[in-house]
Amino acid sequence: MRKTRRLTREQLAPWVWELPQNTPRRPSGLPVSENTATPSQATATIAENPPQPIDWGALFGNSHPVEIEVGMGKGLFLLNAAMTRPDTNFFGIEIVRKYQLYAATRFAIRHLLNVKTACADAKLLIRDYVAASSVAAVHVYFPDPWWKKRHKKRRVFTPEFAADVARILIPGGRLLIATDVAEYFGIMTAIVRAMPEFVERPEDAERAAPRTDAGFATNFERKALARGGVVWRAVYERLPVARESRLSGQTANV
Ligand SMILES: C[S@@+](CC[C@H](N)C(=O)[O-])C[C@H]1O[C@@H](n2cnc3c(N)ncnc32)[C@H](O)[C@@H]1O
Repeated sequence: MRKTRRLTREQLAPWVWELPQNTPRRPSGLPVSENTATPSQATATIAENPPQPIDWGALFGNSHPVEIEVGMGKGLFLLNAAMTRPDTNFFGIEIVRKYQLYAATRFAIRHLLNVKTACADAKLLIRDYVAASSVAAVHVYFPDPWWKKRHKKRRVFTPEFAADVARILIPGGRLLIATDVAEYFGIMTAIVRAMPEFVERPEDAERAAPRTDAGFATNFERKALARGGVVWRAVYERLPVARESRLSGQTANV
């Protein structure tokens, strides 16, 4: 990983949101990261103290719309997004502490106060700490494909995750996905297309994420394009109420 200036935890504090103590950062089956209780300790504590949703207004000190990136890696997308859209707040969730701190350092060096980071399993954080209808967009770019059969359960994009995204998005909010893995793209789009809460906005897909001058939005996109790979993208809009379910055939209002 390219070296960045090293900042202290105190210097990084405005860019780092810490999970309440004893919350597992990872689902069981994955190694538990530093400062984390065991899953059973954490479950007991959560039962005693149900998680409180993040108060976005208090966290950012304003009422601007909030967008979440799941698995921000080194934070290139958030860096460009936060610099080009100062009236939007961005919250990046990354399961690996060293990437979270790398990204936070980039934001701190530029003193970008409209972006914060968390080190957590995005599935758990979104499920437990994000209030319904409180987020304007969720970005999922190049999620880990976890190729091996026994690892596939680690994939972040599941029907449960997509249902949580539908819950936290405001009406008109966007879910944006990109990957260079055709199979995973097929799985993600099949999940979302089966959900009556979403409608696809293909016209937005190409211009959804701000690009660097070199033409890529994220670090993994840069790598995929350099290899001559294809990047698959989709943008979905959260409908105000469910329209007709394509699965059940039930009718609903739009
Ligand atoms: C392939 S990288 C893509 C990084 C970045 N989005 C990009 O396009 O350059 C996937 C990232 O997601 C993170 N990640 C994987 N599972 C996660 C989870 N459950 N919650 C949060 N982050 C996760 C990984 O640590 C990694 O940094």
